[in-house]
Amino acid sequence: MSTERAHITIFDTTLRDGEQSPGCSMNSQEKLRLAQQLDRLGVDVIEAGFPIASDGDFESVKEIAATVRRPIIAGLARACRPDIERAWEALRHAACPRIHVFLATSDIHLQYKLRITRDQCAEQAREAIQLAKSFCDDVEFSPEDATRTDPDFLCRVLDAVIEAGATTLNIPDTVGYTVPFEFADLIATIRRRVRGIEKVTISAHCHNDLGMAVANALAAVSAGARQVECTINGIGERAGNASLEEIVMAMRVRPDRYPYETSIVSEQIFSASQMLSEITGVPVQPNKAITGRNAFAHEAGIHQDGVLKNPLTYEIMTPKSVGVPDSKLVLGKHSGRHALSMRCEQLGYQFDRRALDDIYRRFVRLADKIKHVEDHHLLELIRDTHKPSGSATPLIEPIVPANEAVVNAPALEPELPKPFPVASQTNALGVPLPINAAPHHEQTQQEDYLWGV
Ligand code: KIV
Ligand code: ZN
Repeated sequence: MSTERAHITIFDTTLRDGEQSPGCSMNSQEKLRLAQQLDRLGVDVIEAGFPIASDGDFESVKEIAATVRRPIIAGLARACRPDIERAWEALRHAACPRIHVFLATSDIHLQYKLRITRDQCAEQAREAIQLAKSFCDDVEFSPEDATRTDPDFLCRVLDAVIEAGATTLNIPDTVGYTVPFEFADLIATIRRRVRGIEKVTISAHCHNDLGMAVANALAAVSAGARQVECTINGIGERAGNASLEEIVMAMRVRPDRYPYETSIVSEQIFSASQMLSEITGVPVQPNKAITGRNAFAHEAGIHQDGVLKNPLTYEIMTPKSVGVPDSKLVLGKHSGRHALSMRCEQLGYQFDRRALDDIYRRFVRLADKIKHVEDHHLLELIRDTHKPSGSATPLIEPIVPANEAVVNAPALEPELPKPFPVASQTNALGVPLPINAAPHHEQTQQEDYLWGV
């Protein structure tokens, strides 16, 4: 039995569709920086912009085309001569250029936006692809609002553009309206009915208005699409596009359900996400899958204890596999001694049972007052617990058990059993890197498989 997996082309449109989201515009220098990170991430196609949209967009597509040489560089164009010529002008020096032409096909767009008939639409699409093809071998066509287009008419337009030379047919769910079963059916219908479909790549482009962009994209792949269009952190028009990191990691973690491979270097995901967020100033939602700061955080004591004993108990992929340097245990009132002791170690302190009990009691009182106990709180608390009496006001009042309330308090201060210097290095999440290199859990080959990465 062959174990070979179909390759899924990752088409990143962070710099085009992603940049269209409010507050996410970038200048040319920033776009180039991000394009270079997308290259390191291993994306197959970078949609660098919409060259006719502005001189700035034109220049940045041109610069990316000249500088980033491994991936295909795509430029967007409406189905008309000025757009296609401008796109080609920006792309012509790329090592692997692609012109991406789009034209709406749904009746609502034809009637109200474009004011053309179906016949005119089919003809315009054919002519536009012929023109694009006269410049460039690699031509993609997108029937905008495909999921609200009459399937018979959609197939007719797709027949025409394949005949005119399109090499990728992208099926956009422009308004995020479809649902997984329906989208899979649409891809299956296209595969069954469109002439010459076996010669071209089918692509899925999903928006997230109903929160189903990733599910829809994966459904399309299961139905035979071999390219997905997506963005870092899922940014994009309105509710965004399908998130690159979620699609890729779904395939890595669940190869039993999604037996496909991509060229993505998953360890570069977190850096790409952080870079985008830093450039745009738009923070990643904390509970965002894969790249949110809580994606690998565990607060409940039972979870923390489990993760420390064996990460597989509550983590389905390693933080390291997506480039997060260390998992983050959130310390709050539900946290247990084990997590507290582990974080103290990461901060450079080891305590014996008695001293840990003391710290833990104070920690719980503090966590009752403030929601999350951050590292700086914990350090203060450790210092308070072990400070000579009479010094600065403690963060919380010390608990002095009756039998320990003695006259000469300083002499009875418990000593730190093995104090290490506080780590100065932190990971990308601002969490101090562990000083104690001894792994808490040995990862076996079997677990490597379970991690799926
Ligand atoms: O959502 C959409 O329809 C698009 C096309 C231009 C592909 O972004
Ligand atoms: Zn889009």
